[in-house]
Amino acid sequence: MIPCQRQLFDIPDDVAYINCAYLSPLMHSVAEAGRAAIASKMRPWGVVTEDFFSGPDAMRKLTARLLNAAPADIAIIPSVSYGVAIAALNLNPKPNGEILLLKDDFPSDVYSWRRFAAEKNLRIRTVDQPTPDAPDLTAAILAAIGPQTRVVSVPQVHWTNGLKLDLVRIGQAARANGAALVLDLTQSLGAMPVDIQAIDPDFAVAACYKWLLGPYGIGVLYVAPRHQHGRPLEEGWIARQGSENFAGLINYQDEYQPGAIRFDMGERSQFQLLPMAAAAMHQVLDWGVDNIAGSLSVLTARIAEEASAMGLSVAPAENRAPHYLGLAFADGPPPDLLQNLRARNVHVSVRGSSVRVTPHLYNNESDIERFFDALRASL
Ligand SMILES: Cc1ncc(COP(=O)(O)O)c(C=O)c1O
Repeated sequence: MIPCQRQLFDIPDDVAYINCAYLSPLMHSVAEAGRAAIASKMRPWGVVTEDFFSGPDAMRKLTARLLNAAPADIAIIPSVSYGVAIAALNLNPKPNGEILLLKDDFPSDVYSWRRFAAEKNLRIRTVDQPTPDAPDLTAAILAAIGPQTRVVSVPQVHWTNGLKLDLVRIGQAARANGAALVLDLTQSLGAMPVDIQAIDPDFAVAACYKWLLGPYGIGVLYVAPRHQHGRPLEEGWIARQGSENFAGLINYQDEYQPGAIRFDMGERSQFQLLPMAAAAMHQVLDWGVDNIAGSLSVLTARIAEEASAMGLSVAPAENRAPHYLGLAFADGPPPDLLQNLRARNVHVSVRGSSVRVTPHLYNNESDIERFFDALRASL
């Protein structure tokens, strides 16, 4: 159990920010890395060729540790939509089959597949949310996978209600049916263990600004080795062989750098964002993802218990992610709930029909009390 880490963040005592699934707060150390990076751009004569490569390489290594993948499998991208677009560009399934999506999945995981379905003559099949008395999302997806499945696009945690999916079993079923597996790990990477070797997806994407505790505008894409000769979205200069030799860039190269580098976004060296993202990932790895998950599960269990006692419905612990709660009101959340909570310095989200409560290591018992006091006062 990791003790409360609030001192590493800039959160006043009277603010209960239980909303990491929205935007994580930056740690002081991460802000400091950003300030140092800005200072460096004020004096660009200190920026050397090596700096265009060292930041991305460090980011690939840190991401690989979080995923149990190889650094060469990681591309640097700006957003989830960018990563999903790369996946769609590089899959070419037989027509007349299905793309499996979860009902109410995040839109960046839906729109590329809608275009893909139209272009490849496929159907989108949406797997319904399970009922509260049988909230097993894994079983629902497994029941829908069959020989007609061409692509399975799922998260590890449903972004509205925190229900979790067993990606190893889903990966097995997808492979057994010849379907590609594309993952959005934005709401889990950093807070739940992920073993890419065991899951073996085709592509997996994550934005850095939630559970990776990093800045906005940067993300990571895992590309399975079997797709690493595929087509990038952009044709930037730095992804090509020999790009380290700036004087020789006019000698255009058809060959790419090895591994997943070809899928990097343009200007991937991101001198301000990458040092911040890396500082945050270092801290996450120092804490250990298993320890983070275990510690957050204690907080969410405490919140779940009190919410249930108030008559809100909460999925059983075995079906939900350790760090993520969706609290459901019988008739939906009151329309002015969020404003009322905000007026009392309590910050959570409403997504779909759930009040989404997502703590991190900066939250403490008094945040939880503040949340329930404000909730009771708002009903
Ligand atoms: C599951 C999930 N994926 C992705 C995103 C962000 O998508 P994008 O990076 O395309 O803006 C969010 C943001 O809330 C999310 O919850």
